Amino acid sequence: MPHSNQTFQPKIIGIICNWCCYGGADLCGVSRFQYPPHIRLIRVMCSARVDLLHILRAYTNGIDGIFIGGCHLCDCHYVTNGNFNAYSMVQVCKKILEHIGVFPSRLKLEWVSAGEGIRFANFMNEYSDELVKLGPLGKSEGIDDQTLAFKFEAVKKILPYVKLVLTQRLHVPVRTEEAYHAFFSSAEFDRLFDELIAHKLDISLITTLLEKKSLSTGEIAGSLGLKPSEVSQYIIDSSRQGLVRYDVNTKQYGLVLNK
Ligand code: FES
Repeated sequence: MPHSNQTFQPKIIGIICNWCCYGGADLCGVSRFQYPPHIRLIRVMCSARVDLLHILRAYTNGIDGIFIGGCHLCDCHYVTNGNFNAYSMVQVCKKILEHIGVFPSRLKLEWVSAGEGIRFANFMNEYSDELVKLGPLGKSEGIDDQTLAFKFEAVKKILPYVKLVLTQRLHVPVRTEEAYHAFFSSAEFDRLFDELIAHKLDISLITTLLEKKSLSTGEIAGSLGLKPSEVSQYIIDSSRQGLVRYDVNTKQYGLVLNK
């Protein structure tokens, strides 16, 4: 639901690459183009340096929106063309955010060259306006702080696995903008995400929830917005892995300790 309070000032960080986007930001400053002062910039050597963990940490610390800025595709200053890695990571991260009920537009990726000061200023202004309309992280999504923290914690637990999926199963063989755009907007990507990541994420959400206390299938389903039948299937998978046990007396599931 869009936020109505126009006085809200979103906390935004821009993580931008040294060789292009930072140059664009510098030119923006020298040229005295205006952009909101509440945006904090962090310089990295390449957009590929931005890790999923950095993004989750920022949200956990109350950042409302993250902007990642890199060189235009195929203009990355490193032979590996790292900005394609950033592209893939951002597409997956947006799907993860959506899956846990956070607006994916809280993460933005744009390409800005060192000569595009005005383009940098325009993006910053547009993104700030977009976040003002969106409102504060969590509150606008209808998620309280505790639940939000728990959801990010569950995502953090599967990050090594997500990174593996990114390199092994979501690898696009041709490094062109067209090929990346085609793959990440395809039904095949949606299918792979559901099969490989969403499933693991739901199990992680359930086990993280059960760390606090034992719960019944209905209670788990209610807390996570899942169908009881989905929860039952995930519980079966978790039980097979020895993560979850069932207490016949209380009819509740609990986490197996020391796992
Ligand atoms: Fe700018 Fe890689 S050096 S995106």
